[in-house]
Amino acid sequence: MARLAGKVALITGAASNPGIGYATAHSFAREGAKVVATDIDRANLEHCQTSLMTVSDQILTWRQDVTSRQDWIETVERILNQWGRIDILVNNAGVVILKSIDELTEEDFERQMRINMTSVFLGTKQVISTMREHGGGAIVNLSSVAGLVGAPGVSAYSSSKAAVHLFTKNVAIECAKHNIRCNSVHPGSIHTNIQKTVFKDIPEQFELINSQIPLGHMGTPEDVAASILFLASDEAKYITGAELVVDGGLAAQ
Ligand SMILES: NC(=O)c1ccc[n+]([C@@H]2O[C@H](COP(=O)([O-])OP(=O)(O)OC[C@H]3O[C@@H](n4cnc5c(N)ncnc54)[C@H](O)[C@@H]3O)[C@@H](O)[C@H]2O)c1
Repeated sequence: MARLAGKVALITGAASNPGIGYATAHSFAREGAKVVATDIDRANLEHCQTSLMTVSDQILTWRQDVTSRQDWIETVERILNQWGRIDILVNNAGVVILKSIDELTEEDFERQMRINMTSVFLGTKQVISTMREHGGGAIVNLSSVAGLVGAPGVSAYSSSKAAVHLFTKNVAIECAKHNIRCNSVHPGSIHTNIQKTVFKDIPEQFELINSQIPLGHMGTPEDVAASILFLASDEAKYITGAELVVDGGLAAQ
């Protein structure tokens, strides 16, 4: 039996290929979920929709800016009108602002927090009432290894991901009585468009990253999608408030 049969899942930031949201939307569709894939990037979202339709016909995609409360309200309304429930929310959309503390402006910091953290708060607020009405649900938040340990040049990003980490635990505790589980996934270095943007495809930079990872190489979006799938599925029905690190051993050193 498919691992998400009958579930309705919303995945944000799903347009980027290669990307974690894109891989997650495809794995959820293969596992029988009705998938709503949203993103701010309309052009890539069209490619994502075409690709998802080759896997399943239970697919909806539309543009959603996760920093907009109105977009969250409309997104949840549209899903409820179409499928009547939301069982899974994957708060995946995110960006990284790479600057030293000296270079970082107040606007940079606030933008980083709004896209990576405030969005998770807004999304959680919008879905929990409908999850509660339907007997529960699962929320998976994308944090990062950078939300667990510090590194140069990522103070704003790290702060946003550390906030997601602890917000996840608070949601888990507050919502446990409604059978809503909430967990965070902490990728290390994963070969996606975000990494390409950060390192601009400089081969030496990739070699340096690979040499620092105990398993010897960066992860794939599918490596992370597999962990998100597990936490979203009923296989993880007794897991809430947990963090799952997917980093090839990077943070274990
Ligand atoms: N790739 C990594 O190494 C890595 C490591 C740790 C954590 N993460 C986290 O995983 C998540 C996915 O990252 P990825 O590597 O797949 O990145 P990606 O850049 O490939 O995908 C991110 C997606 O988010 C979308 N997005 C950005 N701002 C948005 C907004 N305001 N509203 C809606 N969508 C928006 C982008 O358009 C893009 O499609 C992010 O939260 C990221 O911080 C990634």
